Amino acid sequence: MVMYANRINSIPPYLFAEVDRAKQQKIKEGVDIIDLGVGDPDLPSPDYVIESLCKAVKDPETHQYPSYSGSNVFRGEVAEWFKARFGVTLDSTKEIITLIGSKEGVAHIPLAFVNPGEYALCPNPAYPVYSIGTILADGKPYDMPLLSENGFKPDLSKIPKEVIKNTNLMFVNYPNNPTGAVADKSFFREVIDFGKDNDIVIAHDNAYSEMGYDGYKAPSILEMPGAMDCCIELHSLSKTSNMTGWRIGFAVGNADIVAGLGKVKMNVDSGAFLAIQMAAIDALKRSDEFSAKMNNIYQERRDALLVGLKALGIDMPKPKATFYVWAPVPKGNDSIGYAKYLLDKAGIVATPGIGFGKYGEGYVRFSLTKSVGRINEAVERMKKL
Ligand SMILES: Cc1ncc(COP(=O)(O)O)c(C=O)c1O
Repeated sequence: MVMYANRINSIPPYLFAEVDRAKQQKIKEGVDIIDLGVGDPDLPSPDYVIESLCKAVKDPETHQYPSYSGSNVFRGEVAEWFKARFGVTLDSTKEIITLIGSKEGVAHIPLAFVNPGEYALCPNPAYPVYSIGTILADGKPYDMPLLSENGFKPDLSKIPKEVIKNTNLMFVNYPNNPTGAVADKSFFREVIDFGKDNDIVIAHDNAYSEMGYDGYKAPSILEMPGAMDCCIELHSLSKTSNMTGWRIGFAVGNADIVAGLGKVKMNVDSGAFLAIQMAAIDALKRSDEFSAKMNNIYQERRDALLVGLKALGIDMPKPKATFYVWAPVPKGNDSIGYAKYLLDKAGIVATPGIGFGKYGEGYVRFSLTKSVGRINEAVERMKKL
């Protein structure tokens, strides 16, 4: 009999499985499904990035092991982009590390900063890898509820002192998946002060930094004075440059924290394919122009979807960022039941909030990853419900 390690056994069950199964059944029955469940851009990566990869891959030097922390040219470009985008100066040799997608960084950070039995403070609902990465490091995720009455920000004053004493790492993520909430600089100030006062490493996941609407531009936590003392920030080209399959991202921040992550990575992976790093340089160079184009598209989709939700009796403010709409389910429903209802009656896939943690109950998440035509079709179906 195969025996799994306790850490594998302690990973919570995959709560989306039931909805997935129901979706597959509907497809078998020939239902025209509109899948607003997955957070994966539907439009292709930019042409110039593809051309850049084709060129880079013809150079045999890109075929060898890349450097562990990322090529100097890629990290140099990250430093330039960061300066232009956030006004923050970074030392590309010590304060930047290349990631094989930001998920890889999120999953490895607890191995560097959480001792067995220690807590990592994790938002809930959240991208599941914060808590799963903590469990894989034999740590204990401590849930920080993200509640609508607090603008989906954690209330740091509610974290017990005994927990804080036994904590060395905290995850935050704004613009936020799944809630679409954004953070202003005063929240980052509070988080940094909390980190410094309690000697806690702050890992800010900024994977959605470039997806903002109605003129909103997300800040970096590193813009705040003192952030470089205790913060690492994760970035990704996945969502912002339609490059989820390419697996490229980076982490920036305090040199010792970056070095800690680097030590884990050096021992478990061998860096990102150099040709992809070369192509990602071109993605970053034109990131402003590309994001402006994509954000117009997502904004139009968001506005179309909100019309449909209103028809369902769900009247909610427009999210300013990410490509998610975190919609409260009508009274008397739970998130799995409501997702099933949408699938059964309208052929629409939404992700039940409970899949992002227990504080996600009462919500479903819609991704704006279908054309405005398909979203309008979903809206028509919603109106008929
Ligand atoms: C909040 C958040 N962080 C990180 C990631 C990982 O992205 P990637 O590994 O593709 O960079 C995701 C992906 O869905 C996410 O939602």
